[in-house]
Amino acid sequence: MHNVRKITEDIFYVGASDRRLALFENVYPIERGVSYNSYIVLDEKTVLLDTVDHSVSREFLENVEAALSGRALDYLIVNHMEPDHCSVIAELVLRYPDVKIVGNAKTIQMIKQFYTFDVDSHAVLVKDGETLATGRHSFTFVFAPMVHWPEVMVAFDSQSGILFSADAFGTFGALAGNLYADEVEFEKEWLDDARRYYINIVGKYGVQVTNTLKKAAGLPIKMICPLHGPIWRKDISWFIDKYSTWAGYVPEERGLLIIYSSIYGDTAWAMDKLASLAADRGVRNIHMYDASKTDVSVLVSECFRYSTIVIASPTYNAEIFPKIEMLVSELKAHAFQNRDVVVIENGTWALSAGKKLTEAFYGMKDIRLISPTLSIKSSLKEEQLGAMTEIADKLAASVKG
Ligand SMILES: Cc1cc2nc3c(=O)[nH]c(=O)nc-3n(C[C@H](O)[C@H](O)[C@H](O)COP(=O)(O)O)c2cc1C
Ligand SMILES: [Fe+2]
Ligand SMILES: [Fe+2]
Repeated sequence: MHNVRKITEDIFYVGASDRRLALFENVYPIERGVSYNSYIVLDEKTVLLDTVDHSVSREFLENVEAALSGRALDYLIVNHMEPDHCSVIAELVLRYPDVKIVGNAKTIQMIKQFYTFDVDSHAVLVKDGETLATGRHSFTFVFAPMVHWPEVMVAFDSQSGILFSADAFGTFGALAGNLYADEVEFEKEWLDDARRYYINIVGKYGVQVTNTLKKAAGLPIKMICPLHGPIWRKDISWFIDKYSTWAGYVPEERGLLIIYSSIYGDTAWAMDKLASLAADRGVRNIHMYDASKTDVSVLVSECFRYSTIVIASPTYNAEIFPKIEMLVSELKAHAFQNRDVVVIENGTWALSAGKKLTEAFYGMKDIRLISPTLSIKSSLKEEQLGAMTEIADKLAASVKG
């Protein structure tokens, strides 16, 4: 039983979705599942663009067989050699022994690292900007090194105007029948996952993404076919704009984000007070998270989203509270930059979370630490309201921009 989907007269979707997997890359919760997209082009030569994760390999192989309807597979283009897209390569080689595997030198090297079959006898090496003609279609390869692996490239088909974009423009979230972003409520139901996917998987490589967007800007793109999530054929520039914002480390929204941890509740209480003071000053786009409850991938993504951020932590064994420490180290790992940040600490005998948080943010680029910071000794006191109000004033000014 195949589930092949027609995209154009001779281009078909042969991927599949997984809703069982709890953690993508064994680290990111994916409540809405994930799709592994793969595309087949039936030209004078038959071409498959990337394969899928082993979890959906059975459906994928049925799809490929059905789409080929008796023809052999001539080319497999490997745009990305990460196992969520390449775990079926050896099986394809067994089924289609004459298949040529198209990749760059790094791709071919990686295939040899993951597999033991005779890769060289199948390999077709391409260079940046080179083209593979398969009949009506011709695929131009644009290298996208470190978006987010070194071998990544994208393939532009001049006949259809489709950019096969690898992980770029992908998102968490399984597909449910509708293949296209314009057939779903993307902004309402998908954008948060798209942002979380981009920031956590690719976010560190903003410079490389920006370079690739510049390289691709000259292409007459009619459709974007990514390796995860829906296909783009309308409002493409809206999504590309999101990408340039994220890749440029520019806040997507003016807004106030308050993230805290709290063991006994006093830090939480103080942050509620701060949020109220900010609201009294006209701040509207306010979002609060308890870092112990919300997954760090969501927190990192929200930090990239908003202009103005408050991080509050109790001191814990002379350190930052572990959940906040994890967040800060993840922010650093994702090259977080260009934000207004307020740091607030709590502690009962020797407060050091504030100093350590400040040091951590000093290690990141263009983080403007707003003073004063606030040190709460066990619980917020009336005499600290003045300092709290000053912070709220500065937060309001920051959100206004
Ligand atoms: C395991 C543990 C370790 C702690 N270590 C410190 C510490 O090193 N220095 C300090 O001043 N307070 C320390 N505290 C106390 C808390 O930081 C303090 O009580 C704080 O007010 C808790 O804020 P909360 O009400 O938001 O949880 C520790 C508390 C716990 C449970
Ligand atoms: Fe990837
Ligand atoms: Fe991927």
